[in-house]
Amino acid sequence: MEIPYAESFRIKMVEPLYRSTREERERWIKEAKYNLFGLKSSQVFIDLLTDSGTGAMSDRQWAAMMEGDESYAGSASYFNMKEAIKTILGFDYFLPTHQGRAAENVLFSVLVKAGDVVPGNAHFDTTKGHIEFRKASAVDCTIDEAGDTQLEHPFKGNVDLNKLETVLKAYPKEKIPFICITITCNTSGGQPVSMENIRGIAALSQKYGIPLLFDSARFAENAYFIKTREKGYENKTIKKIVREMFQYVDMMTMSSKKDAIVNIGGFIAFRSEQLFREASIYNIMFEGYITYGGMSGRDMNALATGLDEGTEFDYLDGRIRQVAYLGAKLDEYGIAYQRPAGGHAIFIDALKVLPHVPREEFPAQTLAVELYLEGGIRSTEIGAILADRDPVTRENRYPQLELLRLAIPRRTYTNSHIEVAAAALKNVYDRRDKITHGLKIVYEAPIMRHFTVEMEKN
Ligand code: F0G
Repeated sequence: MEIPYAESFRIKMVEPLYRSTREERERWIKEAKYNLFGLKSSQVFIDLLTDSGTGAMSDRQWAAMMEGDESYAGSASYFNMKEAIKTILGFDYFLPTHQGRAAENVLFSVLVKAGDVVPGNAHFDTTKGHIEFRKASAVDCTIDEAGDTQLEHPFKGNVDLNKLETVLKAYPKEKIPFICITITCNTSGGQPVSMENIRGIAALSQKYGIPLLFDSARFAENAYFIKTREKGYENKTIKKIVREMFQYVDMMTMSSKKDAIVNIGGFIAFRSEQLFREASIYNIMFEGYITYGGMSGRDMNALATGLDEGTEFDYLDGRIRQVAYLGAKLDEYGIAYQRPAGGHAIFIDALKVLPHVPREEFPAQTLAVELYLEGGIRSTEIGAILADRDPVTRENRYPQLELLRLAIPRRTYTNSHIEVAAAALKNVYDRRDKITHGLKIVYEAPIMRHFTVEMEKN
């Protein structure tokens, strides 16, 4: 008999979960105004809201925490982080920040001005938020294939080079501060960008003299897909692939809460000393002195170790297999999701699962509420609520895809939990014909409304 796959770790510390009743959940979700961000974590059985900062650290990372150096300036932990960034990613200059959006805030304070245009593959919401907050705009140049959830394509995060070149041609160079490529592309479904595509983007960046930035939260998962899907990379180590990916870019922002497997932290890395100096000013104003930037020494130590662990094939293999396992269960039940399975999450195609709920009543959010009621599973809407209103017309934006994301925290849940989530979703799917009414918004913030939106049942 073929011996099945198992992860190469065992569990040393556990955390209890509360199994609630449907009646309790009915009450709690109403109190949370049908916004799953408003739930207490104790009201959730399996939390697939995000893979950000929710992973389990290793014994090596916890050991590194104990050796954190909490000096205000020149901390040894800062130098550990510097060394890891240099060896793993190849950058000479970096600034720590408290998380990914802080890195965006600091860097964009230097680079983005009103009227600018930032092309890329589907920008993440905080990235888009930081661009639009500065009265600039984000232009999505993702390949059209990403818009069809049922189409199998190995690199649905890829940029359509023609679309990108059209933007680069349409605006004067001074209006395009950089090209922003998100690896993997969260918004299109945790989908990777191929090395060939990265090379093509880099060639355009050179041709037009526009710098290239990686929004790198899940860069290691991107490298895993290059290794397992792109010809010529099958025998290269993840670390080697990572070095090649980053060699094409001028700078990166990082939410370390993802692929560096820490609970908090981020950074910006640069090749240009000049840009590093300019960004340092904002880092000191917004984040903290340049050798800690909003992080504690122990967190910087855990991050340095996490960057090393997160770029090991064996770890990534177990992680991405677990996401694929959820995908396989949904295949069994006939539930449509963005194919193939992403690196950190499965993105359910809510328009296919709840076809009777009108888009103005937010089908993906409706599905999120139903899944919570069914099994205490918390997921997140990646649809019209997240897309916000158009900053100029103030009309709701309805993106091509209306998705429900089930994000899998790293090294946190077992496959039994995955089976529970899949079964709960199947139960909702089986009664989909009865779900005809969605939700309406009763309060929303002017930007990034999804975090605090309040809703009622329609
Ligand atoms: N970029 C990407 C691609 C992200 O997915 C995130 C966060 C950020 C930047 C911002 O980083 O949260 O550390 O400030 N994504 C989380 C998620 C929140 O649930 O996907 P942050």
